Amino acid sequence: MARRSTFFHHLHPPTIPRREVRFRYTFGLGGLAFFLFGVLAITGALEMFYYVPSLEQANASVQMLTFLVPYGWLVRGVHYWAAQSLVVIAILHLLRVVLTGAYKSPRRFNWLLGVSLLVLVVLLDFTGYVLRWDTAIEWALLVGTNLLKSIPLIGESLYGLVVGGSEVSGDTMVRFYTWHIFGLALIAAAAIGWHIFRVRRDGGISTPEPRPPDRIARDDLVKREVVAMLLATAALLLLAVVFRPELGPTGNFSQLPGEASAPWFFIWVQQLLRWGDPLPMGVLIPIGLLAILILIPYVIDRRSAGVGRWFNREGRVAQLVVLVLLTAVIGLTVLGVVK
Ligand code: HEM
Repeated sequence: MARRSTFFHHLHPPTIPRREVRFRYTFGLGGLAFFLFGVLAITGALEMFYYVPSLEQANASVQMLTFLVPYGWLVRGVHYWAAQSLVVIAILHLLRVVLTGAYKSPRRFNWLLGVSLLVLVVLLDFTGYVLRWDTAIEWALLVGTNLLKSIPLIGESLYGLVVGGSEVSGDTMVRFYTWHIFGLALIAAAAIGWHIFRVRRDGGISTPEPRPPDRIARDDLVKREVVAMLLATAALLLLAVVFRPELGPTGNFSQLPGEASAPWFFIWVQQLLRWGDPLPMGVLIPIGLLAILILIPYVIDRRSAGVGRWFNREGRVAQLVVLVLLTAVIGLTVLGVVK
């Protein structure tokens, strides 16, 4: 029989070291993120049949999808919950990678791909949220995008590129729609393919050397993956049925909101903005945070010792840095919510 060599077989060789796929090592988080992205692509494509990216019809088309189209509310609900879960799961996956030293050489480049994926996932959530075009998105649309203007020299042009003009208009809607689908989702799909391809190229999921000889068969792995996907599907359906995503009346957006709320994943930035100017608080601090993440395997912990061990001693500084950053972001979010 001819040897098959597809992307699937690349990721699922006939046998895999048992240790690599141990649940209490990966918690299935990377695979879950991959699955959620697939759900988002399918439900997003279905939403595209009804969504109209225009000033007059955007909000009305989401209303129609939600209240008139058969099962439209369910498709929208699953898309919404898959998007929120993906942000959380990607952060937990990052945390797992840091705490097990999986960012270390030879996986440094894949760490960079991962950081880019985190940025793409957050921007996808942000642009998708704006597409509702209801009164609740005021902060995101006006304060969020205005942060770009505070960047010296390139701020105005960057704003024009993102928003489609010198202020919010009908073009903004088309711009966000195009960013969401072509500018971000397609790029994220390609980056995810590359990221997962690299996992194998880097020698499989990280494990301490020498690797124990115990291996599991491909079929076993696939069975586990199918069960995990069924459980995740059930959880998404449950969330979509019980907690319907909000949808207010169409927004006006003629002036900057005084105290509108940011989407949950940007409440920490909104809180920082209450304390200082847009450039340091809304632009430099988030960029600094990303820079620290990027530097982890290149500056903060350059040794490869400790790979594949939870809370390895060699990676203590990197672990501490990430835990402090995460606690700060969560703390700011809580402060932002209780104000
Ligand atoms: C859409 C987002 C993402 C998807 C779909 C994804 C997918 C995956 C998958 C399927 C794996 C192999 C299984 C596993 O380790 O759980 C993996 C491993 C890995 N991911 Fe991600 N990932 C994403 C985001 C991230 C982020 C945010 C980071 C870190 C900044 C990251 C860094 C890594 C690294 C370094 C590995 C290798 C881990 C090891 O060998 O132990 N990924 N990813």
